[in-house]
Amino acid sequence: MSARRLDQLLANLGYCSRREVRDWLKAGRVAIAGRPATDPGAKPSPAAVRVDGEPLDHPDGILLLVNKPLGLTCSHDEREAPLIYDLLPARWRARNPVVTTIGRLDKETSGLILLTDHTELVHRLTSPKHKVPKIYHVTTDRDLSPELVNVFAAGTLQLDGEKEPCAPATLRLLGPREAEVTLIEGKYHQVRRMFAAAGSATVTALHRTTFGALTLGDLAPGRYRELAVAELGLELPSSK
Ligand code: URA
Repeated sequence: MSARRLDQLLANLGYCSRREVRDWLKAGRVAIAGRPATDPGAKPSPAAVRVDGEPLDHPDGILLLVNKPLGLTCSHDEREAPLIYDLLPARWRARNPVVTTIGRLDKETSGLILLTDHTELVHRLTSPKHKVPKIYHVTTDRDLSPELVNVFAAGTLQLDGEKEPCAPATLRLLGPREAEVTLIEGKYHQVRRMFAAAGSATVTALHRTTFGALTLGDLAPGRYRELAVAELGLELPSSK
């Protein structure tokens, strides 16, 4: 990417508006290569910029692995608050491109979700072509029949309002009302709708444990950790 103007860089990283950058420069809060910055139109290397003496906050983008707690919405619409983005520092919520979820989990689903401002990464990992396997732990209101394993594996399960049947999914029964489902696609409310379509039971709790090779480890609900792009095992452009 070609170098950005200083005012655009700081606004994009969520520090303040482009207009406010002038005030920050007058107040001596911004330095380039050790000297006070005066020109909002300068195009410095982000690595040379300091704000209040500190290096820039994630100038090359943010990638997070989050353990989503129940009750948060994967939406940017404040009317649907509380939002998963409320877990993040205010500056990260003000970035452009915005930090967004890679796919979504329902408000009443917990577990592993990725957040990033790497637009390319969002497209790659949500593309139906990519087929990232995701594992969900499911609890139901009724006992599950072993026959369900074949129903999920058949690749014929038709969800209401969808043109194509679900791709084959792996169902592993863990107990009478507990199972693990592996999906390679991400239709809206897919796990809940698959159980509904199979006519077997209603999902009463849903938790995503893995996304590709990634797991939550000991990350507590509501916490996140930074992820290196390399942990995704993808080939990606080195910068946005
Ligand atoms: N399937 C669902 O039903 N809900 C989710 O949040 C994810 C998958």
